[in-house]
Amino acid sequence: MVGIIKTERLLLRKWKEQDAEILYRMASDPLIGKGAGWLPHKDANYSKAIIRTILVDDGEFAITLRDNPDIPIGSIGLRIGADQKRGIFREDEAEIGYWIGHDYWGNGYAVEALSELVKYSFVDIGLSAVWCSFFDGNDKSRKVTEKCGMMYHHRNENLFNSMLKEYYNETMVRISAEEYFMNSKSHK
Ligand SMILES: CC(C)(COP(=O)(O)OP(=O)(O)OC[C@H]1O[C@@H](n2cnc3c(N)ncnc32)[C@H](O)[C@@H]1OP(=O)(O)O)[C@@H](O)C(=O)NCCC(=O)NCCS
Repeated sequence: MVGIIKTERLLLRKWKEQDAEILYRMASDPLIGKGAGWLPHKDANYSKAIIRTILVDDGEFAITLRDNPDIPIGSIGLRIGADQKRGIFREDEAEIGYWIGHDYWGNGYAVEALSELVKYSFVDIGLSAVWCSFFDGNDKSRKVTEKCGMMYHHRNENLFNSMLKEYYNETMVRISAEEYFMNSKSHK
């Protein structure tokens, strides 16, 4: 997988340990973890550990502004492979998760980052479908996925989040490679 992806306004790059303090500032806001399904970060050391163990994965990117790539404003990650329990059955499909720091909401950054990663999934690495999920009530995220051409596929109910120690319901949305290429043809 590539290390850098550029869009009109954004540059997606690998997370670095030096980003821990900025990650902590954004991810300690409970609003972010509430939408993404994790606990707020409790200090910068915790954020550093998350960079080392989770955000280091291939497919995870810090979202930065093109004219200031040193400062992450959010995160987006592509996880390739099946997740049977949640209704993703093929190994050549992926799920994308993302969040944007609260100060940067409402500028179209999530739509811009997600649509580029969807394009990358189909055009550059040839996946057959891409999924996103959101919890009940996360209308912002639902809208982001709709703007990227993703459509309702199914709901998962009473799944257990072992970090939050609670059950949750989620909506799974999806776009296939066929749908993506058909949409891009009709927008030409
Ligand atoms: C969901 C989330 C990522 C949305 O981030 P965002 O950057 O604010 O999203 P966007 O700006 O791309 O889109 C949201 C709104 O901005 C609008 N927008 C799009 N392009 C725009 C632009 N160029 N200028 C201004 N606004 C724009 C969109 O129309 C949308 O508005 P609407 O909700 O009123 O219809 C953010 O709220 C978040 O991080 N939430 C917590 C974590 C989470 O829920 N993650 C998703 C689950 S995986």
